[in-house]
Amino acid sequence: QLTETIAINSKTFKRDDYTNITDKIASLTQKNLHLIQNHPISLVRQRIVNYFYKSFLNSRRNPLFSVYDNLSPIVTLTQNFDSLLIPEDHPSRSKSDCYYINREYLLRAHTTAHQSELIKAGLDNFLIVGDVYRRDEIDSKHYPVFHQLDAVRLKTKDQLFSSESDLKLFDCDDTACIPGGPSKQRCHTLEAFKLMEHELKTTLVGLAKELFGNQVQYRWVDTTFPFTQPSWELEVYHNNEWLEILGCGIMVQSLLTNIGVDNRIGWAFGLGLERIAMCLYSIPDIRLFWSTDSGFLNQFKNDNLKTPIVYKPISQYPQCIHDISFWLPEEDSLFCSNDFYDLVRNIAGDLAEQVLLVDQFTHPKSKKKSHCYRIIYRHMERTLTNAEVNKIHQHVEHAARDQLGVTIR
Ligand code: PHE
Repeated sequence: QLTETIAINSKTFKRDDYTNITDKIASLTQKNLHLIQNHPISLVRQRIVNYFYKSFLNSRRNPLFSVYDNLSPIVTLTQNFDSLLIPEDHPSRSKSDCYYINREYLLRAHTTAHQSELIKAGLDNFLIVGDVYRRDEIDSKHYPVFHQLDAVRLKTKDQLFSSESDLKLFDCDDTACIPGGPSKQRCHTLEAFKLMEHELKTTLVGLAKELFGNQVQYRWVDTTFPFTQPSWELEVYHNNEWLEILGCGIMVQSLLTNIGVDNRIGWAFGLGLERIAMCLYSIPDIRLFWSTDSGFLNQFKNDNLKTPIVYKPISQYPQCIHDISFWLPEEDSLFCSNDFYDLVRNIAGDLAEQVLLVDQFTHPKSKKKSHCYRIIYRHMERTLTNAEVNKIHQHVEHAARDQLGVTIR
């Protein structure tokens, strides 16, 4: 039975009609994988932070960027969305995509959530690293918690050009901007925009070379974010495929004027650490990052962050495959697949390697809808017994019936 309140990291919150965070997810908010010594996520974090430390120095030859890697993942909707100009009706706000604590708080869906508050606090150059939370499917590349690193760099006219220069940052004070397309914002002068674009792109190509080697093939792809304009993705060629490694762009000027900054232009980017770590160290399954097995962590001990490491699987244990079919509730808009994925995750934990929607149909007469999911159970470190899996699977069936109102077929 659900209580009125929910405790996360020893803080208590009121439940309401938005609450969809599960105990399993709440329990992951204190793991801080990005701060664990030798952990591959932590190794990638350190390599990126070191690259920024050495690439940007102030006049006293100290690092320009400061690093925030310990901010609470519990943020307000204002931080995660409004401060970044994400519209009210944007799909990323949906209950089926985010872990809401209630109508006021959620687990951050990106580390960009902290951008505005840090700028407001007076910072011009900073990195944010942390765990982020998104509801998603279950497979070897998706996990509801992953880690991101964000960066912001703001420059005044004097820093971008020089104090003697007559060049300006702004052409007009019209910060209205319709996101989308590859064009600059109207308020920016062409020269300010071009210099910022150039610094952003050379910084990030430098980063890609630092991580993947000088020979890495890369390409820029236009994209859109509500908080940058224009926006790009950087893709690198790895194992015969193009892999998107980060999103970036020139910060939307009204985001800055909204918090009282009217004399700076900025660039920003955000990247996911898991994807990069999986490539760099040949880690085949995202659940491995959560393994506490010393056979995993020991493989990443090293004295030099640049030593190549190739993960060797401890061993492959057999998969156990079970299907579950059910009729959705009469009011089928009440059901979404992500609810089922979270239910499985809450019960089976990391034993659920994949959950696939393998079949769906609508009964021609009754118009009832049916879904069939295939759940693949596998333990990372040992063989599961049939009895063990049957018990878990039964538990999933009962919970789906009781909590989601479905009828098992
Ligand atoms: N927050 C974006 C994401 O999660 C990444 C991003 C950060 C893009 C900053 C542009 C600027 O995909």
